[in-house]
This record gives sequence, C-alpha cells and structure tokens, in this order.
Amino acid sequence: MTVHELQQEILRLKREKNICILAHAYQSQPVLEVADYTGDSYGLSVQAAKTNADGVIMCGVRFMAETCKILSPEKTVWLANPMAGCPMAEQLDLPTLQELKKQYPGYAVVAYINTTSELKTACDVCVTSSSALKICSALENDKILFIPDPNLGGYVAKQLPEKQFAFYHGGCPRHIICSAADAAKARAAHPEALLLVHPECRPEVVEQADYVGSTTGIMAYAEKSDAKEFIIGTENSIVEHLSYACPEKRFYPLAVQLTCMNMKLTTLMDIYHCLQGSGGEEITLPQDVMQGAGRCIRRMVELGG
Ligand code: 13P
Ligand code: SF4
Repeated sequence: MTVHELQQEILRLKREKNICILAHAYQSQPVLEVADYTGDSYGLSVQAAKTNADGVIMCGVRFMAETCKILSPEKTVWLANPMAGCPMAEQLDLPTLQELKKQYPGYAVVAYINTTSELKTACDVCVTSSSALKICSALENDKILFIPDPNLGGYVAKQLPEKQFAFYHGGCPRHIICSAADAAKARAAHPEALLLVHPECRPEVVEQADYVGSTTGIMAYAEKSDAKEFIIGTENSIVEHLSYACPEKRFYPLAVQLTCMNMKLTTLMDIYHCLQGSGGEEITLPQDVMQGAGRCIRRMVELGG
C-alpha cells in the first residue's frame, strides 16, 4: 500500500465508524493530513470536549489521550501508539507533590497539562503553554506552586510580578537542549531571521526571542508575519510543517537535537490498526482519577477559554 492509499483507507474507516482523529502539531505530516483537528495541547483539549464522534484516536502522547478521555468520558478514546509518553509528565509523582505542598502551604497548585492524571487529582488547575499566563493571572490566590516545568512557570512569573511563585525542578528534556550559544549561532547564520521559541526553552533562550508561544502560536505568528525567515525554537516537525504551509518563507531549526522521539512514534499504520480494532490502547482511568483530574482540567477550560 502506498502512503496515499493508506491515508484514503484511514479516511474511509474513520467516516464509517464515526471516529475523530486528533493530532498534536508535533506529529508527522502524513499523520496531520488524516486528522480532523491538529493543534497545540490546549486546542486538542477543547476539541476533545466538542466532537460529536463516538470515538477519538489521539495521535500525540499519553497525557493528551487521558485529557481527552476525562473531558469526554462517554466516548471511546484510544492512544494511537501506546508507547508514546511525555517524559516530563513522569517527572513528579503524587507522594513527592504531597511533600512539596507541605513546604508551600496556602499556595494554589498549578500543573502543566504535561503531567499524569493521577497527579492532577492533587492540583487546583492545569494549564497549557498557551493558557498558562491567562489562568495564573485569573487565579485569586497570589501564591502559586507551578509544577513541573520551571521554564514555563518562570516565563509566566516574570509577567506577573505581583504574584509569588514556587517551582519544581522538572522540564522538557528536548527543549532544554537549546542554549544561548545555539541562539547566537543561529542568529549569526541567519541574520534576517526572527527567533520564535516555545516557553519550555531555557530563560536565556526565551529572553532572546522575537516571539514566545505554544506550537500553534508559533505557527500562526510565522504564517502572519511579513518576515521571510524564521529560526524555530521548538520541536523540529514545526520547521517542516511551516515550510509546507509557507513555501515562500524559510524556516531553520534552532537545534538539530530538538526532536521529540515520543511524538515521532505514531505512524499511519498505528492509526490504521487502531481503526481496525487491532491496535492502539483504549484509555480507561479509575473513577476517582476521572473525577479529581476532571475538576482540574475543566477549571483550565473555564479559565482559559
Ligand atoms: P503545546 O502546548 O505548545 O502544544 O506544547 C506541548 C508540548 O508537549 C510541548 O513540548
Ligand atoms: Fe514532552 Fe518535551 Fe516531547 Fe513535549 S517535546 S511531549 S514536553 S518530551
């Protein structure tokens, strides 16, 4: 079967079975082409709650499929490739968070959505890269324990000097690879290019950026901008997607190692097997986790909408 034939068969099967395919923007181009919706973590969460399909196949990482199931408990939700997890989401477990909460009594616990559902049961609200500032700003509590990514948390904290922040020492193992030296080198190689970065990057990289935002934010900015060249400080699939979306513009990776192997695991074949009922993993979560994490995720949708 060619890639095109496989895509046609996937589109036929998903129509026949009334299944919606959601794909994070870091997925490969062939996967994005068969998706009903592509976007950043926040967009996927909102879309998961809206769809009328009977089932949802999530092409992304585990916490995204769990978020989808929690927001649509009546739907069957599959993670297209069960091996795809976000390493950052596993960095902080519930007992460690409970200890941390004792150190910061009275703080609102704000969890990056890149966390396990179990952890979210002990948090007040979760946020994505595109909604973190709005949500932290809207919280009545002016003391915030932001977990697990201190880079995203620090970026938000700088813009809310009236609030007091505490952090955990987690972070995305991919985005922290980029250094100030990488930014300087890329700028020297492409002096006309704008630097667009994800807030999971280190502060010394974020400080040099012309634009800081989520994956969808970066894509929208580059598409609308009058500039012709861009250095992209997020997962390298965005360089490829933007090159297709704007063939008249040039896009360069900030660092060649900015590839998330977990996001790269999902293939068209995974989606095909999932639609045939012989692949993927159906997401099921204990009732208490559905309820506890649901409260935290729904608050995000309420405050971030
Ligand atoms: P977005 O919220 O921008 O989709 O980011 C998700 C993610 O995993 C970034 O590495
Ligand atoms: Fe997780 Fe980083 Fe991969 Fe995003 S890029 S899924 S934060 S490891």
